[in-house]
Amino acid sequence: MSDTRSEPSKVQVIGAPPRRQAPPPGPCAMVIFGASGDLTRRLLVPALYNLARTGLIPDHFAIIGVDITERSAEDWRNSLHEMLQSFVGNPSSENRIDAIDDAAWQRLTGGVSYMQGDFGDSGLFEKLKQHLADVARDRQTGGNCLFYLAVADRFFGPLVEQLGRAGLLDEELQDGKPQRWRRVVIEKPFGHSMDSAHELNTRIRRDLHEEQIYRIDHFLGKETVQNIMAFRFANGLFEPIWNRDRIDHVQITVAETVGVEHRGRFYEVTGAMRDMVPNHVFQLLAMVAMEPPVGFDARSVRDRKADVIAAMGTLKQEDAVRGQYGPGTELQTAVPGYRAEPNVAADSHTETFVAMRLSIDNWRWAGVPFYLRTGKRMSRRYSEIAIRFKHAPYAPFEDTHVEELPPNWLVVRIQPDEGISLQFEVKRPGPVVDLAAVHMDFRYRDWFPREPNVGYETLIYDCMIGDQTLFQRADMVEETWRVVQPVLDAWAVKPPADLQNYPAGTDGPEAADRLLQRDGRAWRPV
Ligand code: BG6
Repeated sequence: MSDTRSEPSKVQVIGAPPRRQAPPPGPCAMVIFGASGDLTRRLLVPALYNLARTGLIPDHFAIIGVDITERSAEDWRNSLHEMLQSFVGNPSSENRIDAIDDAAWQRLTGGVSYMQGDFGDSGLFEKLKQHLADVARDRQTGGNCLFYLAVADRFFGPLVEQLGRAGLLDEELQDGKPQRWRRVVIEKPFGHSMDSAHELNTRIRRDLHEEQIYRIDHFLGKETVQNIMAFRFANGLFEPIWNRDRIDHVQITVAETVGVEHRGRFYEVTGAMRDMVPNHVFQLLAMVAMEPPVGFDARSVRDRKADVIAAMGTLKQEDAVRGQYGPGTELQTAVPGYRAEPNVAADSHTETFVAMRLSIDNWRWAGVPFYLRTGKRMSRRYSEIAIRFKHAPYAPFEDTHVEELPPNWLVVRIQPDEGISLQFEVKRPGPVVDLAAVHMDFRYRDWFPREPNVGYETLIYDCMIGDQTLFQRADMVEETWRVVQPVLDAWAVKPPADLQNYPAGTDGPEAADRLLQRDGRAWRPV
């Protein structure tokens, strides 16, 4: 395949300047449970800062951190500032910033406060209630409040119950619409099985309406993922061929180079399937496979996504492969195998890689396999959705059978080098008809200025303006677990003999290759 693309000589943005500017959200307070945690420091506060920089936090705003650690608000604020400082000029960070904009930082943290407490102590929630009333008065937040549960999943249910008991989730309605809103953001993992997801839904819905619940999947905060809908439904070109008539199969790859890092304890009971598949990978699949929604409102979009998840056939054991990385070389450095990572059992059966073949049983996709794979310690950090089109029906070229022609691929690069490319055949210049595969390539960075972004900006903004389009609905979450549950159950009782089956720095076990070879297909290189 030819890959002699030249760098675009000059970046030029064509077309009209943006037609729509996001308005700042209305007044509100944001309570972050897990204020001292990693998620808050690394992602939430930097995302809030990026919103503040671009004028997208409310004029009347307050942040209240809650955690078990005893510390002052000033100390907390300083630690957040330090974290932000680490992004300054850091070339390895996607959130690289040139300097901290002090005015934006002041706007964001002018109303910071911190409360120490145990999430199991109802006294904490009574104090929080009083504090929120003070904040509403002093910062004029209108009593609106976003509760962000940046905590381990075992706290999700109990925290919602405590908030409910203290009356902190009560909204004031006028004509059926909240005049004073209360919303709760819940991180993943949302349950660890079909039953536990159902139980958690039942539990939190005793205190919350579905409209108050924002189940976050940070993959939906990625521009490239949101763009799939724009790409499919704002262009007349692709939809007519986006079906079983023209598409041979779809491959989705989410490859990471990192191992389990410091998360061994969490990962041991989670594994690659639970960590990545029913959430991130299925969200990618749903974006690609959903029917066109009638509008871009939360209900229309989520209805269509729910339809496609409901049409997914239950995963069969023979269509699923698991693997675990052994010692190897990652980016030219020797790295240990999974079983030698901190807080991992020496005989662990937790999978760090999964590959699978799934079907979507509806008119659009009947007979089109969807192959998915994700893993840690693979050769490259790279995620893509690749759509393989069917061959031309006949090739009128000498000595060339139609099956020998390289196929057309449409590839959505989720990260890094975000963009979309289309591979097709052209005639190589010269006196004889000789064919070559080339790419037509769209790269975000060639067309749009790159803004510092940690991926949570849009999602937090959407919570503040009350737009649930990019959040998971109760039925969707439960359906995703339905698809993978039988395989999780089977794997739990049948540990494989040869689980440690791919060296770190490679692209998964041979069994994953055989999964496609069985169908006469092959994975794209990572
Ligand atoms: C998280 C998983 O949800 O997503 C991690 O728990 C994984 O294990 C991460 O590394 C990947 O996200 P991103 O945005 O870095 O691709």
